[in-house]
Amino acid sequence: MERTLVLIKPDGVQRKLVGEIIKKFENKGLKIIGLKMINISIPLAKKLYEMHKDKPFFRCLIKFTTAGPNVALVLEGREAVSMIRKIIGETTPEESRPGSIRGDYAIHERFNLVHSADSKENAEREIRLLFKPQELCKYSQILHPWLYGGKGIDR
Ligand code: CMP
Repeated sequence: MERTLVLIKPDGVQRKLVGEIIKKFENKGLKIIGLKMINISIPLAKKLYEMHKDKPFFRCLIKFTTAGPNVALVLEGREAVSMIRKIIGETTPEESRPGSIRGDYAIHERFNLVHSADSKENAEREIRLLFKPQELCKYSQILHPWLYGGKGIDR
């Protein structure tokens, strides 16, 4: 099963949208295997967003990421990387579909509430940056066969 990193950014925490955002992922059937509130240091923010280090908005992005607590999640599910990016929406809120997190709640590209890794490789890199292996939980979910099929249901 695929896993990915999601960050509810400082604007999401300040706007009290943490529960609302997590609900979207849970409702979809994604499984939370890691969850914590963190203050991201400047060096850590720079590592997390190193692919944007030459972009004109890099300084703003680091300042914003470190301006208040974030909520970090590791979510697991089928095609988790691409599913979650659809649920989140586009970087630019006006291009995001209604129903997506940014489409419903964000109005500015800098204050777009949520980050998620854009590839499996970056997901693993970002998970390693933000979580220790022992902070991730392995557990089975009773609903699993009703989401993915199983003995006595479709087999
Ligand atoms: P995110 O998905 O976290 O990945 C990189 C982030 O850079 C992006 O969301 C935006 O929050 C931010 N970003 C993109 N474009 C701009 C911009 N023009 N100015 C400031 N921040 C930006």
